[in-house]
Amino acid sequence: MFLQNVYIRVIISTVMIIGVPKECKNNEYRVGLMPHQIAMLSKKHQLFVQQDAGVGSGFSDKDYVAAGATIVPKRSDVYSQAELIVKVKEPLPEEYPLIQPNQCIFAYFHFASSLSLTQAMMESGACFVAYETIEDDQGHLPLLTPMSAVAGRLAGQQAAKYLEMPQGGPGVLIGGVLDVPPAKILVLGGGIVGTQAAEVMVGMGADVFIFDINKNRLDALESYFDGKITAVESTTATIRQHLPTADAVIGAVLVKGAKAPKLITREMLADLRPKSILVDVAVDQGGCFETTKPTTHAQPIYEVDGIVHYAVANMPGAVPRTSTHALTNATFPYVAQLAQTPLAELPSLFLKGVNVYKGEITNPEVANAFGIPYTPLENILI
Ligand SMILES: NC(=O)c1ccc[n+]([C@@H]2O[C@H](COP(=O)([O-])OP(=O)(O)OC[C@H]3O[C@@H](n4cnc5c(N)ncnc54)[C@H](O)[C@@H]3O)[C@@H](O)[C@H]2O)c1
Repeated sequence: MFLQNVYIRVIISTVMIIGVPKECKNNEYRVGLMPHQIAMLSKKHQLFVQQDAGVGSGFSDKDYVAAGATIVPKRSDVYSQAELIVKVKEPLPEEYPLIQPNQCIFAYFHFASSLSLTQAMMESGACFVAYETIEDDQGHLPLLTPMSAVAGRLAGQQAAKYLEMPQGGPGVLIGGVLDVPPAKILVLGGGIVGTQAAEVMVGMGADVFIFDINKNRLDALESYFDGKITAVESTTATIRQHLPTADAVIGAVLVKGAKAPKLITREMLADLRPKSILVDVAVDQGGCFETTKPTTHAQPIYEVDGIVHYAVANMPGAVPRTSTHALTNATFPYVAQLAQTPLAELPSLFLKGVNVYKGEITNPEVANAFGIPYTPLENILI
């Protein structure tokens, strides 16, 4: 109802109140909008930015004020005034009580990985548009891609780092040297994350094997890497066959919107050599290793049965000066459209981003992940 009111007002006045809070996840330094984007939006809309929200990405409060934003001291000042909240990561529990039933929140949510987040957002009654499920006309995920590219590259770097003994690893140089062979790395999932991780590790001289269930994707990867990787059809048997000789495994699978399939069970950890490294980039969708639990940049690794696990759910947050540019260059046109257009008039591929609306789950994979009834968005959009 409120959104309707908001949009009626938008049609009359074309002014939307947009808020950008400071991210509060551990070591998360990205920000939802850059100053030059605020400058474009502030020609028509009113913008509130939380104090220091952009500092980690290289933008001062002065930059935002010069672009036309009002700086407010507290997160609650943003949530209490804005109709549209633009942020990076899902709200944390301390933000839950701040969300108003009338708001629209545009961010990464990865709902299928967290029942408690999903329930809290349903209870708020607000509208939640997830970057990661908006599609383009090719069926790609244009707002996940830039951060997957960053996370994939970082995954390669992290694998190299944690292979070092002082970092907790087995003490293997990723690229080998002279007549000593390089590390063998398995990449499970040959999409954006997997390809970018492979690029970095091939560049460092690793022996890279990419696993995927999509035959066309495997063919494309073979041709792209031109003999520098080995493409493997992903099955439990092929993964098991390669685990005993692997030094590290990168988890990079995705089934759109759904919980990640568990490709390495706890029992399979025994196939790996001690101190081998598992980097689960798919942790944000619940992780593709049975033993994955989300970690933070402050404490990125833990061990299970002698195997080192890295499972940071906001990897790109570590390189905000790169990530904020890559992210908001992709999200900005959608923010501008969301601020300007009634929800019911947005293109259907954009509306695939609406995962929770008015207390209902409007994404079938999220509903399926928790056995909660799915409500098609069109049934509740007026
Ligand atoms: N941790 C982080 O900070 C971070 C950042 C960005 C993205 N991610 C996550 O990384 C994951 C991968 O994202 P992406 O953009 O590369 O997705 P993508 O859709 O580009 O690629 C996923 C690939 O996985 C393959 N796949 C699906 N099931 C498989 C299976 N059983 N075995 C092998 N391959 C399988 C698909 O065929 C596809 O090629 C997602 O969960 C995404 O949310 C995490």
